[in-house]
Amino acid sequence: VLVGMLNPYTNQEKNKLYQEAGIKAFAAELFPRITRAQSMDVLSSQSNLVGYRCVIDAVAELDIAVPMMMTAAGTITPAKVMVLGAGVAGLQAIATAKRLGAVVSAFDVRAIAKEQVQSLGAKFIEVPAEEDGQTQAGYAKEMSEEYKKKQEQIIFDNIIKQDVVITTALIPGKPAPKLISEAMVKAMKKGAIIVDIAAVNGGNCELTETGKVVEKFGVKIIGYDNFPSRIARDASKLYAKNLYNFVELITNQEKKEVELDLEDEIIKASLLQ
Ligand code: NAI
Repeated sequence: VLVGMLNPYTNQEKNKLYQEAGIKAFAAELFPRITRAQSMDVLSSQSNLVGYRCVIDAVAELDIAVPMMMTAAGTITPAKVMVLGAGVAGLQAIATAKRLGAVVSAFDVRAIAKEQVQSLGAKFIEVPAEEDGQTQAGYAKEMSEEYKKKQEQIIFDNIIKQDVVITTALIPGKPAPKLISEAMVKAMKKGAIIVDIAAVNGGNCELTETGKVVEKFGVKIIGYDNFPSRIARDASKLYAKNLYNFVELITNQEKKEVELDLEDEIIKASLLQ
């Protein structure tokens, strides 16, 4: 039995090899997002930590302060942070940036994200549209061309004011949507930072180079390919606990052996076949 983050969407070849070798492979990314599986939810445990860490990474690169400071030598205005994609990572990034004193705004295609963003004290950037980007599984879908056009203009109008932009937008099984064009980067403030958490899925910014920190038109673009490793101890701790909980589910505790209930929703959803 093999359990882990197996990248089931991009590793189709390997999926076949597991079967040929008689290995029962479980992709942790496919654990369904139901209450019973929350303690096994590797995507949430890792995204949450990454959402925190990416703000720390951005701030470390900034040459301005984040909170407002009123001093005898003058007033420092708070840094502006925009978060694109308000899922697990995005919401934690918003909360972290707020704690540091930034003025935070955020955008997501799922209408439900608005209330979540506002409850953290950030401004929700709205794209006027009838379309909701949420699927039944709670994830985002790919939006229509008309929506994308409106979204592009709104992001452009907002991005030029930002000191930090954090992008986390993902669509399961698809390349990350391109939300930041080269023209937008050109129009941004010099010294601004983009942290592209979606880098490993191709990135939300056209100029992101996966695995690298690059500077384009005076803007630093951080595109690490393994963000959880930047907060390794806690990432490992939560990931191990997630997997442990799954292993308990597939083990007969008395016999101390693997016992698969193929009718179980979590087992059925994550078994590669
Ligand atoms: P994700 O990592 O797949 O995507 C990140 C965010 O990007 C999502 O909020 C998505 O809506 C957004 N996005 C996609 N395309 C976009 C675009 N073109 N422009 C702007 N934003 C875009 O999502 P994640 O973080 O895994 O969470 C998805 C949902 O699942 C959330 O509603 C979350 O609250 C929910 N969830 C439910 C759980 C449960 O019930 N057990 C556990 C964890 C998350």
